[in-house]
Amino acid sequence: KNIAIFASGSGSNFQAIVDAVQARLLNANISLLVCDQPGAYVIERARAANIPSYIFRAKDYPSKEDFENEIALLLKNRNVEWIVLAGYMRLIGPTLLKQYEGRIINIHPSLLPDFPGKDAIGQAIAARAQWSGVTIHYVDEGMDTGPIIAQERTRLEEDETRESLQRKIQAIEHKLYPSILQMLLTIGDVKHDEKTGAY
Ligand code: GRF
Repeated sequence: KNIAIFASGSGSNFQAIVDAVQARLLNANISLLVCDQPGAYVIERARAANIPSYIFRAKDYPSKEDFENEIALLLKNRNVEWIVLAGYMRLIGPTLLKQYEGRIINIHPSLLPDFPGKDAIGQAIAARAQWSGVTIHYVDEGMDTGPIIAQERTRLEEDETRESLQRKIQAIEHKLYPSILQMLLTIGDVKHDEKTGAY
């Protein structure tokens, strides 16, 4: 299956997926990287892995619809079947949601519905949470609100810091995302029931 990875930042999850494909743990073709930040380190990673990257800056387009139409066209031309968000710091709008219904997934560094949005790790530390972790979920129009596919938790120690929690969460993410992706791509397209909203 052809997948596109969307990322805005360092791309350690992008790298984990690339490595899993190379190690034949994940049977997928990473067609391309979509990035909205010209200086992001993930672009270097894509270059090193020989994966084409496409940079779309939202401010170059008059509307979100135009911005997403351009991306949607590229994905269609490249026969992309799944969109994998990996630290993509932008909400997906109706244009892409419609074209890829039930085939867009995201990874988030908390046990949703706890700590959605930005800086989930800092939020967990500030709340003195006992547990946090990682969630992989289908993407809908909300912020980190779509149906949950998988979660893995980790315990916060008394002296847990943002840095130590980030390390633990990243270690989970880099294993969990490739394995869940492999499962999803293997079972095929998940159908969305219009009436019940279930996947
Ligand atoms: C990850 O923690 C992911 O859960 C969140 O953004 C972060 C991206 O990190 N959505 P990286 O760019 O993959 O290193």
